[in-house]
Amino acid sequence: MTVSPSHAIERHIVSQLLSPAARAQYHTGDVSHAELRPVVAEIERISAAYTGHSVGATIAQPVSSQQAAEAYALYYTAINAAKIAHLAPLVTSEKKCLRVLDFGSGPGTASLALLAALPHDLSLHCIESSPGMRSVAERLLLSWQGPSRVSSLSFSSSITEALRDEPFDLVVAANSLAELSEDAAAQLMQQLSSVVAPEGFLMLVEPGQPQHTRRLMKVRDSLCSAFTPIFPCTRRDPCPMLAASEADWCHGTLTWAQPPLSCQLDSLLGFNKHRIKYSAFVFQRGGSLRPGVRVIAAAERSKRGTEVLVCGESFYGVTRIRKGARSEGTRALEKALAFERVELSAPAQPELPEGVNSSRSVL
Ligand SMILES: C[S@@+](CC[C@H](N)C(=O)[O-])C[C@H]1O[C@@H](n2cnc3c(N)ncnc32)[C@H](O)[C@@H]1O
Repeated sequence: MTVSPSHAIERHIVSQLLSPAARAQYHTGDVSHAELRPVVAEIERISAAYTGHSVGATIAQPVSSQQAAEAYALYYTAINAAKIAHLAPLVTSEKKCLRVLDFGSGPGTASLALLAALPHDLSLHCIESSPGMRSVAERLLLSWQGPSRVSSLSFSSSITEALRDEPFDLVVAANSLAELSEDAAAQLMQQLSSVVAPEGFLMLVEPGQPQHTRRLMKVRDSLCSAFTPIFPCTRRDPCPMLAASEADWCHGTLTWAQPPLSCQLDSLLGFNKHRIKYSAFVFQRGGSLRPGVRVIAAAERSKRGTEVLVCGESFYGVTRIRKGARSEGTRALEKALAFERVELSAPAQPELPEGVNSSRSVL
């Protein structure tokens, strides 16, 4: 049976961070409440700090101890890793080993997700200001066992060292931009983009919240002259959604097989991560735009036909399949979920011509 990246990561974290008794319980059912009580208390505190802070305001470091870093890893890592593992197939390379820069690595979330989801070995450089997070990341990454291996691992507490390094095949910043002021985020983007190798990738992932996402959409616009956007955009001009509305936000929802400790912690915390909202942009230096349109809102029936809100090269808006024009060829567009990409045999337009063919893909 194949194990999903998030299950493999959760099992690994449990094997490293819980007591032997709790590990045994994990493999047969629920972990005892006594073991999880301090973890739950830390997660409640961390969650309150993140949800109480306004985007772009400096956040008092909510993970300042080893215990907090371990609690963060036990709950947030599987959830955040699911998003990165979902996007990982966009990173393609002939190389056996990829050089990866993981900015704001926390307990090594993005690095673990890539190890679990990519066929490549990884040479990792993690930038992380919290000593507790660095220590947990080191432990989790050095003990990782899987088909993909950590070929080297280094850490720094700020980006300055990485700027002196060789360029990276992949630079990831996951859930760390919102902690920076707008100016600091702009400067960071310049620094991170300067270390992406030719044909290399830049992956930005943020929590699925409107403010975080709108901010990320602006960052996306600032990067499109130096990079080709390859997810979710199939266009490189300024984001039409930003211009069309002051509230809309470009995001997706992942339905995942939630691993067992994540489910148990959810029920103790009163949270629900059964489905995960997220926003993300992936860029490639060089590379080419993906064909087709991104579905922004899935098909809805109206009096005039079936309407799908899409975004793609030269078109942002509702495209309609007229009543009576539905066919085998339009089925993929009709069935596509929000954030899926659909290729059409005719350019997207307000009313699709008869006989159009469509095909859909998750990325
Ligand atoms: C919300 S956590 C995200 C951790 C991990 N990337 C994830 O997705 O689970 C943000 C991390 O970024 C780190 N961080 C924030 N600003 C930083 C900076 N300027 N330099 C290094 N690390 C930073 C924080 O210490 C924290 O561990």
